[in-house]
Parts: sequence; structure tokens; C-alpha cells
Amino acid sequence: MVNVIGLGYIGLPTALMLAAHGVQVIGTDYNAEVVGKLNRGEVTFREDGLRELFQAAAEKGIQFSSSYAHTDVYIVSVPTPYNEKTKQIDPCYVVSAVQEILRVCPENAVVIIESTVSPGTIDRYVRPLLSSEKKIHLAHAPERIIPGNMIYELKHNSRTIGADDPQIAAKIRDIYGSFCLGDIVLTDIRTAEMTKVIENTYRAVNIAFANELLMLCHKEGMDVNEIIRICNMHPRVNILSPGPGVGGHCIPVDPWFLVGDFPEQTPLIHRALQINADMPQYVYSRIVQLMQEHGICGFDRVGLYGLTYKEDVDDLRESPTLQLLRILDEKGQQCRVYDPMVKEGIVAGQCACMEEFLDGVELVVVMVGHSALKVSVQQLQDKLVLDTRRVLHGENVCYL
Ligand SMILES: NC(=O)c1ccc[n+]([C@@H]2O[C@H](COP(=O)([O-])OP(=O)(O)OC[C@H]3O[C@@H](n4cnc5c(N)ncnc54)[C@H](O)[C@@H]3O)[C@@H](O)[C@H]2O)c1
Repeated sequence: MVNVIGLGYIGLPTALMLAAHGVQVIGTDYNAEVVGKLNRGEVTFREDGLRELFQAAAEKGIQFSSSYAHTDVYIVSVPTPYNEKTKQIDPCYVVSAVQEILRVCPENAVVIIESTVSPGTIDRYVRPLLSSEKKIHLAHAPERIIPGNMIYELKHNSRTIGADDPQIAAKIRDIYGSFCLGDIVLTDIRTAEMTKVIENTYRAVNIAFANELLMLCHKEGMDVNEIIRICNMHPRVNILSPGPGVGGHCIPVDPWFLVGDFPEQTPLIHRALQINADMPQYVYSRIVQLMQEHGICGFDRVGLYGLTYKEDVDDLRESPTLQLLRILDEKGQQCRVYDPMVKEGIVAGQCACMEEFLDGVELVVVMVGHSALKVSVQQLQDKLVLDTRRVLHGENVCYL
């Protein structure tokens, strides 16, 4: 039986996927509210296909609990934030989960850390927790799925498994192989740790490059998207899309682990993270510029569409809109906000529906390109639109 520890955005779909494919699973979360909801048959966040997967797992007998199970395999999927000051990983959730496992697990249990960790974390913080009296096998199996396409990617992405012992690695490959159709690469723990963080760092640096091009082209009065489109016709060029900033739990977080641990070796990564982090400030300056150009008096005439960090999810973590709202708040300014994916009452000025949001607003800033926006295009026709995601077109639409 597999005990999945942490039933958030990653742990829950993983537990459900394993159970739906015939692995006996118990999911554990120390948040009693999460466990209560799951035991009532409710999913805890919005994701395409999650309800159906939940149903399939329930039929196979998945259980949810606040307690850790006595079993031979554990998958740890708890948060791994960074320390605000040092930028190094804060391993406290992983450490406390492993300590709890060690209290209940039998000899020879396999403990798979699925949480993203900085290279060396398992050696530095997890291995020292083990005692010589009880042999435990450690492994790292980082997750690559993207919210919005999690269920497909869980099945189809390739995976990396790092373990001390090749036989244990092969056992873990069989567990994930119950549902994973992608390649499963076996390696050592440190390599698995490094590859996961580098993957997200690669994305962060390339997004920063696109953001820098955006600011450069804007200064020159040139269309960055047209320029990127043409450049990407080169067979060896693939520039990403610029945007209002980077959110979520991975790309704006994980690369800091490298900067925190290796400041001397990471000036490029450090600068890239700063560029991305400054994008909400850039959006603010563009809003002010448009207000001046179009004679819009007061931020109560401005509406931000989208609160989540990306389209069609309900995850707000590190969202560029929240960062922009903080900038506005510091300046004593407030504008209207609406997000069809997020219940009312999360932030000041949040509206319950599109009609209320648009009433009296002259400038709409599209911060997130939710699919629902396409249905509302007609309602925006008499508004000036600043589209930071390039999902809308028209004479009234301008871009970052
Ligand atoms: N969200 C993503 O898109 C994504 C993608 C790839 C990898 N990851 C990585 O996966 C890991 C988990 O991220 P997430 O987004 O699922 O986090 P999350 O915050 O959504 O979920 C974590 C869950 O763990 C629970 N928890 C924390 N400590 C616990 C403990 N000691 N015992 C039991 N439960 C505990 C929390 O209550 C929470 O429900 C992180 O390392 C993250 O970097 C996330």
C-alpha cells in the first residue's frame, strides 16, 4: 500500500491516479478540512478531469485520513517554499512529514520525496533524520505536471526517479508505471533534485528574456509578438511569450533555491528572477500611461480581469494580479477586480459578476486569459482594454 502525504495540487491527483490504476492508496493530509471534504466525496480544487479521476479512485477504495499509515511505501508531496531572506529552500514541511513517517513506518520502508527540493536537500535535511536502528530507503521522484492539464500530463509526461539503491528505484518505477505512459529515467537522488530545479529555472530565464524583449520593443514602438513570431520561424529559435509576471508555486520559487545556495554561480538566473518579479510594476506603469493618454481619472475607473496565476485554474499563489494589487495598495489606490474562477471576497474591490465589474469601468486590464473571457468579448467593446496576455484583438485593445 502507498501512503501519499500531502493532498494538495500535486499529492491529490497523484494519489487518485495511483488508486484508479489498482494501487492500494491511503491519502494523508494534516489539514482536517481537506480530509473531511475528500471523505465527503468533494474535490478540493478545480481541474479538468479531477472529479472523474476521484470517482474512479473511490470505486477502487482509496481512503483519506489525517493520520499516517503503517505501510511500506510513502510519497511525500508537501510544500517547499523558500526562505524570504536567504532565498534558500525552507525544508520544514518535508522534514516534519518525514519525521512523522519515521514514527510509524516499518523497517525497509521506501520514502519517496515528490516535493521539489534544491539539490542536496535530501542529503542535508532528510538523511540525518534516519537512525541506524531502522533501515529506510530514500528516493526522489519530482513532479512535472502543469495545472490546467494535470491529468493528461500525469499519464503522459516522462518522469525521473532518483534513489540510492537501483533495486529500490526499479520498485518505484513499477509503482509510477502503473499509470505513467512516459519514459521513466532512473538516476541518483542528487541528479533528480538538480534536474527538476533546472527545468523550472530554464523556464524562468526564458520568460525573463521574452519580458526583456517586450520592454525593449515597447520603447521602440515595435510589436514584440510579431517580432517573436518571425524569430521563431528560425529552426533553432523558440522564444516564449512575455506577460505580466510569473506566478504559481514553481517557476517563481524553485530557481531561487539555486540563487540562495550558489549566489556566485547564478548571476544570470538571479537577474532573470528580478526581471520577472518586476513585471507587475511594469504593468502598473503601463496602466498609468494609458490613463493619462485617454484622460481616465482615478483607479476606480480601472478593472483588473483575472486573479489567478494562469488561465482556467483557481490557484492564486504568487499571482501577478495579487502583486499588482499590492503595488496599488502601497500607493493608496484601489481598482475593481473580477475572476470567474475565484469566489468573491478574496481581495478588496472584487466583483461577483462581469456586469458589476464593467459598470463604470473605462480601462479593463486583462491579467489572465481565462477561456470565459472569450464569451464576454462583446461586453468589452466600449472599453479600452490593456491585454497583458494577448488573447483579445480589436481597435480598443492594446498590449503591454
Ligand atoms: N502546484 C504545482 O503546479 C506543482 C508542480 C510540480 C511540483 N510541485 C511541487 O509539489 C510540492 C507540493 O506542491 P502543491 O502545489 O501540491 O502544494 P499544496 O500546498 O497544494 O499542498 C500541500 C499539502 O500538504 C499538506 N501538508 C503540509 N505538511 C504536511 C505534513 N507534514 N503532513 C501532512 N500533510 C501536510 C498541506 O495541508 C497541503 O494540503 C511542492 O514541492 C511543489 O513545489 C508543485
